[in-house]
Parts: sequence; C-alpha cells; structure tokens
Amino acid sequence: MGSTLAKMKQRLETRGLVGLLFAIWDKIPRALNRARLRSIIGKRNMGQGCFFGKHIEIKCGTLKLGNHVHIGRNVVLWGKGTIEIGDHSIISDYVSILADGNVKIGRDCSIASFTFIIDSNHQIARDRLIHDQAKDTQPVEIGNDVWISASCVIMAGAKIDDGAVIGANSVVSSHIPPYSVALGYPARPIKERS
Ligand SMILES: CC(C)(COP(=O)(O)OP(=O)(O)OC[C@H]1O[C@@H](n2cnc3c(N)ncnc32)[C@H](O)[C@@H]1OP(=O)(O)O)[C@@H](O)C(=O)NCCC(=O)NCCS
Repeated sequence: MGSTLAKMKQRLETRGLVGLLFAIWDKIPRALNRARLRSIIGKRNMGQGCFFGKHIEIKCGTLKLGNHVHIGRNVVLWGKGTIEIGDHSIISDYVSILADGNVKIGRDCSIASFTFIIDSNHQIARDRLIHDQAKDTQPVEIGNDVWISASCVIMAGAKIDDGAVIGANSVVSSHIPPYSVALGYPARPIKERS
C-alpha cells in the first residue's frame, strides 16, 4: 500500500494531476479483467502475483495456476479437462491449450507465441462422420524449465522432460529427453543443452 502511494506521489510530481488520473484510469480495465478471471479460475486455484493480458478465454474444466504465472493476451485455455501451470511459467500471446484430460506444465517454463497444445485426437473410423466420433485423450506432460519456441504443436501423449528446448515450428508427439534441444516434425533431439 505504501509503495502504491509512493508511486502515485512520484507520478503526480512527474506527470501532473492529469497524468496521474490517466494512470489510474488505465489500471481499471486490468483490475476488472483480473477480477473476472479470478472468478472463473477460483481463488484457491490461482497463485499469488499472476499476470493476465487482454482477451484471455478460459473455458476448461479446471485451471490451476501457481505463483507468478504470466498469461499473455489472446491466450485460449479450453476443454473439459484440467490444465496445470507451475510457478513462474510464461504462456505467451496467442498460445492455445486444449485439455479434455490433463495438460500439465511445470515451473519456470516459457511457451512462446502461437504454440498449440492439445491432449486429444478425434477417432477416425471410416463408416461415420468424424464429428460423430469420440475423442481419444492422452495426457501431455511438460517438465520444469522447458522452453517451447514459437508456433509449435504439442500433441496428445507428448512428454517433454525437465530443461528441454523445442525449436520453432516443431511438432512433438512423443518423449523428449531432459536438457535436450529437439526440433522438426516429429521433433527429435539434435543435441544437449551445454
Ligand atoms: C532450437 C533453437 C533454440 C536452436 O538454436 P541453436 O542452438 O543456436 O542451434 P543452431 O542455430 O546452431 O541450429 C542447429 C541446426 O538446426 C537447424 N535448426 C535450428 N532451429 C531449427 C528449427 N526450429 N527447425 C528446423 N531446423 C532448425 C539449424 O538450421 C542448424 O542446422 P545445420 O546444422 O544443418 O546448419 C533455435 O533454432 C530456435 O528454434 N529458436 C526459437 C526462437 C523462438 O521461437 N523464439 C520465440 C520467442 S521466446
């Protein structure tokens, strides 16, 4: 509270009364957005100090966020299942995560923009419409300190171990060993983090 007052005083000195009023005005949508998301996620499932960008869509069964999780703008978190994101992980702008079963992301991870994470596949028997068929789900597990670069697709059954790096535009559908740098489609380790 003391630091907020000190910041307001500083702003008043540097930008004048109008500047201070605009600064307060700017904070209102962010506070409303945060309150809206908090009511969707539930107080018990949201850690301390989480950051939320604009236009986030949350329509998943359960979302559990650790402390200081960053959710960028236009992120979509969807499905009937559970999405867990550990402390200090960053979900960048335009990431989509769809969980019909379970998608777990550890702590200190970076998921770069336009990445798509999904834990299910449609069944594709030939005699019926794909629309009319059930989905098969397999959990997606992402360890701690994992960096998934821009525009990747992480598919059902993927298991990315601690410290792994996934190159841009890769498709991960199986196991990526710890501290490896993997890329391509399907992603394969090319080296280890040195
Ligand atoms: C995976 C990555 C980190 C590897 O970087 P690096 O360790 O410097 O590796 P190099 O650039 O030496 O690449 C090694 C080889 O893999 C190839 N390569 C690198 N990234 C690739 C990718 N995403 N897809 C296909 N091939 C790739 C390189 O062309 C090179 O091939 P060569 O040996 O035939 O010349 C990097 O290439 C990458 O994809 N960065 C993502 C950037 C990003 O999306 N940032 C988002 C903001 S967080």
